[in-house]
Amino acid sequence: MKILAIMGSPRKTGNTYKVTKKVEERMKQLGDAEFEYVFLRDMRLGQCLGCQVCFDKGEEHCPLKDDRALLEEKMHRADGVIFASPTYAFNISGLMKNFFDRLGYACHRPRFFKSALVLTTSGVGMGANIMMISFRLVPQTWGFKVNSLNVMTNGIPEFNPPQHKTDKKIARAADRFYRSVAAGRPEPDILSMAAFATARGQIRKTPGDMFDHRYYKEHGWFEKDACYYYDPQAGALKKMLARQLGKLLGVFT
Ligand SMILES: Cc1cc2nc3c(=O)[nH]c(=O)nc-3n(C[C@H](O)[C@H](O)[C@H](O)COP(=O)(O)O)c2cc1C
Repeated sequence: MKILAIMGSPRKTGNTYKVTKKVEERMKQLGDAEFEYVFLRDMRLGQCLGCQVCFDKGEEHCPLKDDRALLEEKMHRADGVIFASPTYAFNISGLMKNFFDRLGYACHRPRFFKSALVLTTSGVGMGANIMMISFRLVPQTWGFKVNSLNVMTNGIPEFNPPQHKTDKKIARAADRFYRSVAAGRPEPDILSMAAFATARGQIRKTPGDMFDHRYYKEHGWFEKDACYYYDPQAGALKKMLARQLGKLLGVFT
């Protein structure tokens, strides 16, 4: 399996890298796992200008001509993707945030139907749980099935668990991620299917010449029997419940 690790720390061989390397070592013990590391600090990736052209006309019209498309291509080619970022001021790093912003269009038009691992390291875990909410949510809206790993690194015994416990936690997360990637295209859970129903209900209401509207139409996502971005193995009851839940969620969003 091919794993792409997108590294969001400005410190190239810092704690986040060291923990990701431990995930790699463990996955290589489990079977054939080939790793490619991409360091966002070394990529040509301009700051999002907020013009929304990617939403309205398509990402190929983004005025910034840099490595964004290359990064997306690498994610398509991988079997699984690791997003690794230190916790900075209760959030992901600026490098990772800008990367997420630059691919913001994928929140509207999901496309990565495979497994991801979001990995953070923090000094004492301060804010790590809060940041994990949005750190998980972005790849989820891009279509990924998301696993997570949250590791404290400063080694203060009063705050951090002993190293052997941390290593066990890393190994367990690597095992879960390995199995998840090996299983191939994930089967969506009922909430993901409900989110699809909500999104398509909202996009259906937009004008027909809007890019997102056309994209949904071209992909057959407005079709009566479409219940997810691809045809899941879900039974009739799950499909029906997801649709009803999606309608309900649509009322509140
Ligand atoms: C600007 C900055 C902000 C940080 N904010 C937090 C924080 O909110 N909570 C926390 O527990 N650790 C925080 N830390 C500590 C880092 O998350 C921690 O040392 C991390 O493992 C660094 O990873 P790296 O070596 O890959 O850069 C912060 C560090 C920096 C430099």
